[in-house]
Amino acid sequence: NELGLVAVGFSGGQCKPGVDAAPMALIESGLVNQLKDDLEYTLHYDNQVHAYSDLMPASDPPHRGMKNASAVSAVTQKLSSQVYEHAKHGRFVLTLGGDHSIAIGTISGTAKAMRERLGRDMAVIWVDAHADINTPESSDSGNIHGMPLAFLTGLATEEEDKPFGWVKEDQRVSVKKLVYIGLRDVDRGEKKILRENGIKAFSMHDIDRHGIGKVMDMALGWIGRDTPIHLSFDIDALDPMWAPSTGTAVRGGLTLREGDFIAECVHETGSLVALDLVEVNPSLEEQGAAETVRAGVSIVRCALGDTLL
Ligand code: ARG
Ligand code: MN
Ligand code: MN
Ligand code: MN
Repeated sequence: NELGLVAVGFSGGQCKPGVDAAPMALIESGLVNQLKDDLEYTLHYDNQVHAYSDLMPASDPPHRGMKNASAVSAVTQKLSSQVYEHAKHGRFVLTLGGDHSIAIGTISGTAKAMRERLGRDMAVIWVDAHADINTPESSDSGNIHGMPLAFLTGLATEEEDKPFGWVKEDQRVSVKKLVYIGLRDVDRGEKKILRENGIKAFSMHDIDRHGIGKVMDMALGWIGRDTPIHLSFDIDALDPMWAPSTGTAVRGGLTLREGDFIAECVHETGSLVALDLVEVNPSLEEQGAAETVRAGVSIVRCALGDTLL
């Protein structure tokens, strides 16, 4: 089993420093060795946390209200080609973020590679407290980590290549192939977008009502068999009890086991082609940083095939 690992030390999609330190914290807590030794992956890793400093613009004025638009643009475009390169060689792609804006890079890279390799449209499972589908105009914050899915689905388009016009048709995912799990803090404009586009979403309410087992059956049933799946996991999907050290924590979230269970179920399909783990910010909580990192490591292990027995 071949695994491409990309470590992305980038925080420009939101305003709190520290989320760029997550890849190193995850790796230092033994993640890479566990993937090699316990799960027996052949690792393709360039042994560096990319900060993309050479790509950072000297100045980055707001564009359509977006903060750090040129920085996020440059990083995600570069990341897209890194991820694409792994995926087109048939490797599973694990990306450690960084904030969730980096999904513009990861998903555009895998979507294109899956079309070329398998001739298939990829599905995305987005596990998050948030929908991250604001357009620049619907966003109150201007933080691009709240917008990646608007660009990836083509709901927000741009004329020019920069910042995000480079995301072309063959790098996008259909709104019909996007499934959310764990939502509980969705902006008003985002609710309208979800409704008008018939996007499949399982909120915390649905998980309370049906249980996580049934929700996973429904989520995977919606996607169907033999569809490549990209899992984008925001650690803030977990309740702050388990993952307190994250930039936009929201109470009332998933338990640690529910998070692991989601990852296990997606692994079991045999269709998982890529995983992002994002929004771990070890600098926000003195006490909670270590357990947040530990929760992140656990999610990755489960998605990559670690079993309890
Ligand atoms: N909806 C809010 C916004 O647009 C919060 C987004 C939080 N996103 C995240 N990836 N943690 O700013
Ligand atoms: Mn090559
Ligand atoms: Mn979130
Ligand atoms: Mn997110």
